[in-house]
Amino acid sequence: MDTTAVVTLLLRWAHVLAAIAAFGGLLFARFGVVPALAEIDASTRDRIHEAIRRRWLPWVIGAITVLLVSGLANFLIFNARVKADPAFWGATWMRDTSYHALFGAKFLVAMVMFYFASALVGRGAGTQWVRNDRAKWLTVTLALGLVVVLISGWMRQLHTGPNAAPSAAAAMTSN
Ligand code: HEM
Repeated sequence: MDTTAVVTLLLRWAHVLAAIAAFGGLLFARFGVVPALAEIDASTRDRIHEAIRRRWLPWVIGAITVLLVSGLANFLIFNARVKADPAFWGATWMRDTSYHALFGAKFLVAMVMFYFASALVGRGAGTQWVRNDRAKWLTVTLALGLVVVLISGWMRQLHTGPNAAPSAAAAMTSN
């Protein structure tokens, strides 16, 4: 494996693991923690929420940092590869496939998702309105995460294509 392949594999692992942690944490909070704590008295509930919030905060900050760094690096490396070999990709590949537009849309949705994910584990007075209705804003954040994952898969398929059967893949490499 050449250096670029090793770097992109490491970035991919980091990106996917951080996405799993972020999305999985939101899912568990929305459908496990919040409904379970709704069954107990308010003061105990608030103490448990605060105890979880403090411990989960570094994970959210870590996941956001890894997603941003690995995602931007991924994009810059891929962009450079497409530009470096216009004969292979076609000079207008990015525009023709709407890859740039999809990336822009994904980036904006991810930023809004990060805002809510941070507000849900924050403690600033300015974001208290988010924590006042946890179930609702967790659902919204999950929906934004779903949009991000759908766009990501779409972007990926633009350059990998649909999965090919082993015989078709072998035929392609022998040409
Ligand atoms: C602003 C932050 C982000 C940036 C800049 C970013 C950027 C990227 C890029 C460039 C790719 C490669 C797409 C391709 O193969 O052409 C990617 C893949 C992906 N991203 Fe992100 N991303 C970000 C945040 C997120 C978030 C928040 C999630 C989910 C919660 C996510 C989930 C994924 C997934 C599932 C893939 C596909 C990975 C694969 O098939 O290897 N990303 N991202």
